[in-house]
Amino acid sequence: MFAEVAPRYDLMNDLVSLGQDRRWRHDVVDALAPQPGEVILDLAAGTGTSSVPIRRAGASVISADLTEAMVMVGHRRLPDQVFVVGDAMRLPFADDGFDAATISFGLRNVADPAVVLAELYRVVRPGGTVVICEFSRPTMAPMRLVYHQWLKRALPVAARIASSDAAAYSYLGESIMAWPDQRGLAAMMEAAGWEEIQWRNLTGGIVALHRATKP
Ligand SMILES: C[S@@+](CC[C@H](N)C(=O)[O-])C[C@H]1O[C@@H](n2cnc3c(N)ncnc32)[C@H](O)[C@@H]1O
Repeated sequence: MFAEVAPRYDLMNDLVSLGQDRRWRHDVVDALAPQPGEVILDLAAGTGTSSVPIRRAGASVISADLTEAMVMVGHRRLPDQVFVVGDAMRLPFADDGFDAATISFGLRNVADPAVVLAELYRVVRPGGTVVICEFSRPTMAPMRLVYHQWLKRALPVAARIASSDAAAYSYLGESIMAWPDQRGLAAMMEAAGWEEIQWRNLTGGIVALHRATKP
């Protein structure tokens, strides 16, 4: 599916999120607080859009993704960024090798998020951090209602007009509504071994940033 949307992925992102995704990406950097010299894994990095602000903060970033077409678009756009094609379910990295890891809008798309949370735990060093940026549950009921209507009705129409793969964006709405809420994701992280789990709602909970530490 991501191979189909790769050429227009970043344009569609801006459209679907009404430009909010840029702000969310800066919030990811704040949560990671990257230090120069640190090595950070950006998992499910796609075209590398989520990696750029982290790199700008001074850390070295490895962008890993399963879909070659996404990585190829990224590689053309960011020739000096390190991209690795690899499966989040079986990361091609050694234990304890990263100071931190992050995944933006990727965990919802994998076959088994619990396995990916355990893989992230394995590759981050003790004392290191994980930051997960994912769609979540708006905290106010009226906003939730409007948002779910937008996902069900407006998003598929917008996708038909602007994207070559409208089905992918119908899937987006369905997968967001089926995804666990803030507390549910925190429980999954805890089950994978992560500690000091905290989350912050962005745009009223449309997106949540979860942050945790490996003991
Ligand atoms: C919505 S995009 C997010 C890209 C980027 N993180 C961003 O914020 O723009 C989701 C990405 O997850 C990747 N993905 C899906 N399953 C994966 C897996 N098992 N391992 C690694 N990446 C995967 C897709 O190829 C796609 O590039």
